[in-house]
Amino acid sequence: MAQATDPGKVLDRPNGNGGEENGLARYEISFGQADTRWAEMLARNAERLLKGSYSFHWLKTDPPNFGRRAKPSSRGLTYTDINNVRPYGEVPEHVDWKSFAPRGALRDPYRAEMPIIEDYTVLDSCEVWADNVITLYEEAKARQWNATRDIPWEELKPLPDDLEKATCQLCTFLTEVEFVAGDFPAKWMYRIPQDFLEVKSFLSTQIMDEARHQEVFRKRAIAGGGLMHSAPGFEWALKAILDAPTHTMGTFLLNLLGEGLVLSIFRSGEMIAKTHVDKEIFRRCMQDEARHVSYGVMQFKYYLDNNHDREGALEQLHRFADIGERVILTAFTEPALVEPVAILLGGGLDKIDNGMEGMAHLWRMFIDEYLQRCARAGFERRERCKLPLDFPWRQG
Ligand SMILES: [Fe+2]
Ligand SMILES: [Fe+2]
Repeated sequence: MAQATDPGKVLDRPNGNGGEENGLARYEISFGQADTRWAEMLARNAERLLKGSYSFHWLKTDPPNFGRRAKPSSRGLTYTDINNVRPYGEVPEHVDWKSFAPRGALRDPYRAEMPIIEDYTVLDSCEVWADNVITLYEEAKARQWNATRDIPWEELKPLPDDLEKATCQLCTFLTEVEFVAGDFPAKWMYRIPQDFLEVKSFLSTQIMDEARHQEVFRKRAIAGGGLMHSAPGFEWALKAILDAPTHTMGTFLLNLLGEGLVLSIFRSGEMIAKTHVDKEIFRRCMQDEARHVSYGVMQFKYYLDNNHDREGALEQLHRFADIGERVILTAFTEPALVEPVAILLGGGLDKIDNGMEGMAHLWRMFIDEYLQRCARAGFERRERCKLPLDFPWRQG
């Protein structure tokens, strides 16, 4: 223990575990500071046990949250079904419980003794809630698939060199994108307290979806020849998503804008995918991506509809979108994305110019869908949009 109270000394240990030792020392100090509380809880429990008596306090159900039974619906027993039982479905506008105590459990009598998890920082429902989040969670569970078994990998045939390389390059880009698409919800999921448990559940499915997407594109690239080039233009765009100052802003940039673009690419899967194996990959990813985009739109709408200063919130979001759109534009100028997609759309390296015509069509579809999504969320962006309505790199 003497060593543990002197972290600086611990750092000098020659065994190479200085970082771990230092962390352990801080953990021991922290435990020691809360020692009185631990000792009190242990003492009163041990005393009761020694006397051979029982508490039975947990049998009391006042206020009466106990006794009304949740009934399953046609799908089984969903979160919506249990939320129909009062008070379990009462999601607070602002959370003041920063512990693990379940929403609806008897927790007030213990408030003074509860630990406070300071990392739970997302305390307003408007920052994370969406009216479709429970439905999307159910759908996500029902539609999970397995990138090892559900793709007919054994039927993957080699493509001509130009198309194979273009496919592998696109998959490399997608592997990069899917990685941050998992890291962003993971970063915020940890900061969401117990009272928004449905959102946490949904985000865990998004993390699983994105893990499967990066898996399937990595596998597709390596099964077809190999991973190809990463690109700074992608990397800075992806970092901008991770660095977004709030969950709603990041969700706008990732789910609504970024994944909206990815969804447009997947929707063009019939033209971009050159084998039935690739079409199947795109089809399955598209279903997952549609859920994430749908959450993004409805979360954004919920934020605006429930914000006490809607005008102020709109202006902040416009300022954020001014940057977000430029971020996406930067990523979309990267030749490591534009050129392989154009080659795939055109049908070969020698038809890249035709492919650029296809890119112009894809871009218009993306912008149109993006602006519609913004409008559906109550965010009229058409006048202020920093993205060109027409594909900016069209030849001639
Ligand atoms: Fe994804
Ligand atoms: Fe996604």
